[in-house]
Amino acid sequence: MAFTPAPWPRRLRSQEWYGGTSRDAIYHRGWLKNQGYPHDLFDGRPVIGIMNTWSDLTPCNGHLRELAEKVKAGVWEAGGFPVEVPVFSASESTFRPTAMMFRNLAAMAVEEAMRGQPIDGAVLMVGCDKTTPSLLMGAASTDIPSIVVTGGPMLNGWFRGERVGSGTHLWKFSEAVKAGEMTQDEFLEAEASMSRSTGTCNTMGTASTMASMAEALGMALSGNAAIPAVDSRRRTMAQMTGRRIVQMVKDDLKPSDIMTRAAFENAIRCNGAIGGSTNAVIHLLAMAGRVGVDLTLDDWDRLGRDVPTIVNLMPSGKYLMEEFFYAGGLPVVLRRLGEGGLLNRDALTVSGQTAWEQVKDARNWNEDVILPVERALTAHGGIVVLRGNLAPDGAVLKPSAASPHLMKHRGRAVVFEDIDDYKARINDEALDIDEDCVMVLKNCGPRGYPGMPEVGNMGLPPKVLRKGITDMVRISDARMSGTAYGTVLLHTSPEAAAGGPLAIVRTGDMIEIDVDARRVHLDVPEAEIAARLAAWKTSVPQPKGGYARIFHDHVQGADKGADFDFLVGCRGAEVGRDSH
Ligand code: FES
Repeated sequence: MAFTPAPWPRRLRSQEWYGGTSRDAIYHRGWLKNQGYPHDLFDGRPVIGIMNTWSDLTPCNGHLRELAEKVKAGVWEAGGFPVEVPVFSASESTFRPTAMMFRNLAAMAVEEAMRGQPIDGAVLMVGCDKTTPSLLMGAASTDIPSIVVTGGPMLNGWFRGERVGSGTHLWKFSEAVKAGEMTQDEFLEAEASMSRSTGTCNTMGTASTMASMAEALGMALSGNAAIPAVDSRRRTMAQMTGRRIVQMVKDDLKPSDIMTRAAFENAIRCNGAIGGSTNAVIHLLAMAGRVGVDLTLDDWDRLGRDVPTIVNLMPSGKYLMEEFFYAGGLPVVLRRLGEGGLLNRDALTVSGQTAWEQVKDARNWNEDVILPVERALTAHGGIVVLRGNLAPDGAVLKPSAASPHLMKHRGRAVVFEDIDDYKARINDEALDIDEDCVMVLKNCGPRGYPGMPEVGNMGLPPKVLRKGITDMVRISDARMSGTAYGTVLLHTSPEAAAGGPLAIVRTGDMIEIDVDARRVHLDVPEAEIAARLAAWKTSVPQPKGGYARIFHDHVQGADKGADFDFLVGCRGAEVGRDSH
């Protein structure tokens, strides 16, 4: 895509604070000089906000303050003025009720931190699942030049000679304990093997997926996604990112120049090729809404349909992010997409190069990690979208994490009204359930829980697990961790708490799914469904106040990215009534 750099030098927005000799300029400069900054730093050079999601309680991003020093070094080298700004950090492993409930709050916070302060360009320092989409959403709504650098994945975990993937093995070990195949002591011993270094989850979970999405969108430098957190090249990447943002400001290369429809199409196809997390569906829909790209669930199904999953990483495959990096990382995948006619080659990236220019020479160093198309994990790796009377606005399923024999299935529903009901009854030996049943979980959508917890891959009943069964069809309005697997229909929309048909399913109803036909059907007469819906009353109360009230009242459905209705769109960088 043709991009014409803006003329340089020109007056930047930071000069509204620091330029000139007015009382206000002296006030703004004077305060900052208490840090010892020399006067010539206020001469109109780009002020770069390093928007840092470091927090001791976001362990995945716990090393970002050290990494920020390398970003600063790059900014200084390129003639910019770096300022580190802490922003809201929604930790996946810590936040209750769900980190997802705070993605929009974090997006709002970073948007206001960028617009309301003298920032000409931003480095988005992210890593853990929600930190990447939230900062990209906020930056997109200001349209201030921005670039992502992630903290990178953890090193491989190892336990008794086997790779241990973040999250994926937590589910596996926990089910093994329930099935009597692993003792509790062994589980505790395994705990220490799961997180061997700083960094994000080492599987192709949501964090690695979103790092890949940022790179595929063109919002991070090429090669960023896979470099391990502790590899020296991660620090080099941070420094190069700091250098690059200064030139982006001079050129006025903005998110709206990069996050185009072509870029989102590249990201969706890339998600299929890497076997990425279903969470990317929600986050990309929300991000697209911020830049005015009309992306829908059907785009996910249509664009991902012919994309083979070629990245052999857990949870769909065998390896971990460390090996993905050694094999060549995401540039190899994007090159493959380009060679297969599945990449919009001209999409612009933060480097100033096109998507194709960056990856055309990428080499694959391990064909067991990044597979040839003939040996793809699955020929159709994208996210599929099922619709029907149970999900009029769609529900998603990740074929590469599902069981082929369950892709067409009819079974008796066993309904859990909410996650507490599920927890109370799932281990009950008297529960009337077998492997042919369809487990249904309600009230876990954006409004229902709230925040749409990652419980869609609800564990199987122990009596089924003891038979050696590891998968059953499960349907909910919840999300699923990117590290999880199973034949799990997620994000069912409209959600139960908003009165979607999921709300009126009863135990004993028959449910059919047919993935090839993209159909999910509640086999109950339409008149009966209508009568049940007419009698339905929500069991989810409106919160009394605070952020929970804003969330409840304004969150949109999963099919719209679960963004707040009043945050959709780009409000620009200008400080004024229109943006507030
Ligand atoms: Fe933070 Fe997985 S929990 S990256």
